[in-house]
Amino acid sequence: MSRQVFLHPIANTIAKLLILGIVGGAVGLTVFSMLVARSPLMAQVDIAPVQPVPFSHEHHVDGLGLVCRYCHVYVEDSAFAGVPQTEICVGCHSQVWADSPTLAPVLDSYKANESLEWNRVYDLPDYVYFNHSIHINKGVACVSCHGQVNEMPIVRKQSTLHMDWCLDCHRNREDNIRPRSEVFDMHWEAPEDLEALRQRLVEDYHVDVEQFNITDCSICHR
Ligand code: HEC
Ligand code: HEC
Ligand code: HEC
Ligand code: HEC
Ligand code: HEC
Repeated sequence: MSRQVFLHPIANTIAKLLILGIVGGAVGLTVFSMLVARSPLMAQVDIAPVQPVPFSHEHHVDGLGLVCRYCHVYVEDSAFAGVPQTEICVGCHSQVWADSPTLAPVLDSYKANESLEWNRVYDLPDYVYFNHSIHINKGVACVSCHGQVNEMPIVRKQSTLHMDWCLDCHRNREDNIRPRSEVFDMHWEAPEDLEALRQRLVEDYHVDVEQFNITDCSICHR
């Protein structure tokens, strides 16, 4: 079930107006926290939507050893991680389990040159700006936001996507980075000199802890 179902277009418009109205205002935050407390939108954490094919990350990532970027090919370079074209699946499934009814929708959509309609698990409202590549390039790992996807037979939402969730990490962002080469690694173990490593990364990746305020409204509401 997509979260958008609950977000009537009018809700987007109201939120946009609210943001325009209170950005910069000293009362903004108070008004905002009251709004969130009363927000009818449910965070739907731990919910897994029904999918056209029961695709298992557990099986393909931990089982077969496929790296995230094998399927989410844009995640390092664009705002969107993107969900894979069925071409990628057919690369293997024209051979493996090719006759299985479970996989029929994949092969059918490929033959018809159509995309499979996957239901979104993570979906921000339109008035929030988010960008994967910025996070990945600063050394924020998939697991920090999406949890142990490698252990999920079906992807379940692991974070609220509420504003507080974004802000909590932005305020402590030096504690949430690792070497870029490790962002896909779902089993990464921090080294003993973690503090020193992080200090180095903050400099190397220009994580501007003091230079600008990453909790400014205009960073996410543009
Ligand atoms: C073999 C291809 C494949 C690999 C490898 C893969 N994924 Fe996926 N991923 C998919 C498909 C297909 C979907 C859409 C179906 C679903 O949501 O389960 C998806 C969905 C997701 C979603 C939910 C998207 C949404 O709707 O909001 C997340 C998060 C995700 N993948 C993260 C990862 C991470 C992290 C890794 C590496 C640890 C990874 N994936 C590896 C194919 C893959
Ligand atoms: C690198 C090869 C490879 C790719 C790419 C791949 N698969 Fe698989 N898939 C497999 C193998 C191997 C199995 C396991 C067969 C077994 O254990 O009998 C499997 C199993 C499955 C199953 C059976 C259910 C289960 O036990 O997990 C489904 C459904 C499935 N894949 C869907 C997909 C979809 C959808 C994609 C594209 C997003 C995809 N696969 C991409 C190799 C692949
Ligand atoms: C800083 C938090 C964060 C990190 C790190 C992150 N994601 Fe996401 N991801 C999100 C959010 C938020 C969304 C919803 C975006 C939206 O609705 O516009 C999302 C959406 C997705 C989607 C759905 C399709 C899309 O592009 O919107 C996939 C797939 C996905 N992420 C995979 C990944 C993979 C793979 C990684 C690691 C390489 C990763 N994410 C790292 C927060 C994150
Ligand atoms: C787990 C940590 C984490 C979470 C959660 C997170 N971020 Fe970030 N975000 C970062 C880091 C680290 C940076 C880079 C900061 C820097 O360059 O100083 C960043 C940067 C950004 C930037 C770019 C700022 C700029 O102009 O360079 C935007 C936009 C952003 N985040 C939006 C979001 C949104 C929206 C959410 C929630 C949906 C979110 N982030 C959740 C860690 C996180
Ligand atoms: C790091 C990113 C980020 C920053 C910075 C940020 N917001 Fe948000 N904001 C979000 C996200 C994500 C949501 C969506 C929350 C949800 O869907 O529950 C949101 C939602 C809102 C909403 C709509 C609330 C509702 O009831 O759904 C308002 C109003 C708002 N923000 C105002 C502000 C103001 C004012 C500031 C500056 C003080 C600010 N935001 C800074 C990410 C951010």
